[in-house]
Amino acid sequence: MSTREEILKELRNSQGFVSGQDLAGRCRISRSAVWKQISNLRIKGYRIESYPRRGYRLLEAPDLLLPEEIRNGLEATVFGRTVHYHSSITSTNERAKALAAAGASEGTIVVAEEQRRGVGRLGREWFSPPGGIWFSLVLRPLLAADELPKITILASEVVARVVERESGVKTGIKWPNDVTVAGRKMAGILTEMTSTVDRVEYAVVGIGLNVNFGRCMFPADMRNDVTTLLEELGREVNRAALVRHLLESFEEGYSDLKKGEIRSLFDRWRERCETLGSRVKVTTIEGELVGVAKDIDSRGALRLELKPGLVRTISAGDVTRIR
Ligand code: BTN
Repeated sequence: MSTREEILKELRNSQGFVSGQDLAGRCRISRSAVWKQISNLRIKGYRIESYPRRGYRLLEAPDLLLPEEIRNGLEATVFGRTVHYHSSITSTNERAKALAAAGASEGTIVVAEEQRRGVGRLGREWFSPPGGIWFSLVLRPLLAADELPKITILASEVVARVVERESGVKTGIKWPNDVTVAGRKMAGILTEMTSTVDRVEYAVVGIGLNVNFGRCMFPADMRNDVTTLLEELGREVNRAALVRHLLESFEEGYSDLKKGEIRSLFDRWRERCETLGSRVKVTTIEGELVGVAKDIDSRGALRLELKPGLVRTISAGDVTRIR
């Protein structure tokens, strides 16, 4: 834990004021070092009251995805222990891939307040203004490359479930990995990996969640198809707490997945999936296919019934519901 984090913890744990002397003693630093740390916290947006002879009192923490905010009370033991924070970055997935290639351990996360060149599926750009949750997880799963979609299934199910549980907003899933609210996209997942012949060397799961900004921020041509949590709830939420819950639930599901226990995950995913059973158009790099979305297979690929008795398995594409 950094000194700044220790000071924050002490401030949070004390009911009222805590003296500079006590803070210095508990964090094993000088009183002037305490004062410097407090100034830095204020610069970051923490509201800290201070009075001579009484000491310091934390009034409010900023709505930022700072490591100390994410780790405050985090129950996950692997995911989020190492947090790389950026106020602005090109893409958290790009950064996480570079860190993974340089040996970053499983559970490392890269988080940013905004992305200047966020990457979406199928090479698309991902709109990532301040107020969203943009982060990437480094994984080192013992999986064959073609089993990787299981991780994307896990991530989309976790995002949908945690957002619904924490906000009360009813979420759905659209194959392969969109989290939706009343048909509008609220979150997307981009899983990328590097593999050897027989197994994944590392994977990066990028999660993009539209949170504390309005739909009006999106370019006009996207506005009808997307939504944000602020738009659905009518109020802002604490983003760091949401990231914390996502990490905890992801860690739990990932541990089951590693043990090969995926049946209940797939069942939960199917229950939330709004496209299964419907007639859909699937756009793939090879062209468009129309049929009934029947199911996902054990690897997470879509089973599309083109006509009775003729089923095609599709591993990547975009689905639109048709009548
Ligand atoms: C999609 O197209 O649905 C996937 C979008 C994934 C966006 C996230 S935001 C965090 C991470 N960094 C990126 O550049 N992309 C992913």
